[in-house]
Amino acid sequence: MKILLIGGGGREHAMAWKMAQSPLVQSLYCAPGNAGMAAVARCVPLSVDDGAAIRQFVREQGIDLVVVGPEGPLVAGLTDQLRQMGVAVFGPSQAAAAIEGSKVFMKDLCARHAIPTASYQTFTQPEQARAYIHAQGAPIVIKASGLAAGKGAIVCQTVAEADEAIRQIMVDRLFGAAGDQVVVESCLRGEELSFLALVDGEEILPLAGCQDHKAVGDGDRGANTGGMGAYSPAPILTPALQERVMAEVMRPVVQGMAAEGYPYRGVLYAGLMIDGDQIQVLEFNARFGDPETQPLLMRMRSDLVPLLWACANGSLRGMQIDWDPRPALCVCMVAGGYPGPYATGKPIHGLQPWVGHPDLQLFHAGTRWQDGQVVTAGGRVLGVTALADTVAAAQQRAYAAVESIGWEGVYFRRDIGYRAIKREGV
Ligand code: AMP
Ligand code: GLY
Repeated sequence: MKILLIGGGGREHAMAWKMAQSPLVQSLYCAPGNAGMAAVARCVPLSVDDGAAIRQFVREQGIDLVVVGPEGPLVAGLTDQLRQMGVAVFGPSQAAAAIEGSKVFMKDLCARHAIPTASYQTFTQPEQARAYIHAQGAPIVIKASGLAAGKGAIVCQTVAEADEAIRQIMVDRLFGAAGDQVVVESCLRGEELSFLALVDGEEILPLAGCQDHKAVGDGDRGANTGGMGAYSPAPILTPALQERVMAEVMRPVVQGMAAEGYPYRGVLYAGLMIDGDQIQVLEFNARFGDPETQPLLMRMRSDLVPLLWACANGSLRGMQIDWDPRPALCVCMVAGGYPGPYATGKPIHGLQPWVGHPDLQLFHAGTRWQDGQVVTAGGRVLGVTALADTVAAAQQRAYAAVESIGWEGVYFRRDIGYRAIKREGV
């Protein structure tokens, strides 16, 4: 099989690394890829946003399956264009990807299908949003409706902070057109859980549970980022909770979308808040989580390629996934300043000794080759991911590598996995 993977982040490196191990794969291409992906696939310098160039490449190379990693091309409709050419595609249609691309769409979909989520109102005018915020009081959450690279949700502890968030999103247009509509919703408390499932339009195959750390600072403090680290399994996800998530969230949303005429095909990621026996949906993503995918795929023993193929072709029924029971944990090494402005082009040292380690992978995100060395090329740079017998041991193994790798201005959190480790009681 000839596969083209769209994307070049840490998630895509993990996907490429996993797919490259499949005996079904004859050629694996990545567009655009990164310095790490170049070791397992052929990187082609195409932008994920250049649909015309991607279609041409698919035609010329006779690609059998296109796997779309990031949300941008999904929301822009790349999958529809490719399906029209008769190519198998892993990823939802543009209409179905609105579940991530429009928070207004997502909230209204949840309301129509009685899927539990925070109470909310949507606004296109700042004065009306402010009036609602003043009536509701704080804490309160302000969200740009459109895509904002994981940074579009602002949890506000005071009404003044919420006013400021409205100004940034709707007046200063911090996230551009993504902020033309905002969702204002009640602030939920509890523990977050990332629940991902493969979906073929109808059938739902849950993946192992995982949790990520979105805040930039230790103790989950500071601004939200795309994710600073993650681990799997999630100790909070018991079999009973898994069944409830399937019954209260996943089946209603997948059946609801099919009934409304946009069946979901791909991976559906529910960001959940668990508070006692309450399950609430914070968000849906139309793609694999980044960095959740890094620990998830280190634990996946099954071949990923037949699973992706089955999602693309509606044949997921009866398939199963075999998981390594050991936990995996990923620490993201980022450029200092991220999620704000940061420098790029910094040479990275210390990578080589870790290449080929059986229980540790350096998944590259923003990296590229320059003058014979690997340099930084983005905010999140590396996802150092380790497998071990306990979360505590996986954490130690990951940080041993993290401490020996670096570049000018490197930053990382020092407490990834602390909640799971507390539960382990180690
Ligand atoms: P979202 O982009 O909607 O997932 O939001 C990003 C992050 O903001 C979530 O992972 C939570 O940490 C936080 N968040 C979003 N919505 C809420 C809410 N209603 N209550 C509390 N925290 C929230
Ligand atoms: N790690 C959060 C996300 O992928 O959206």
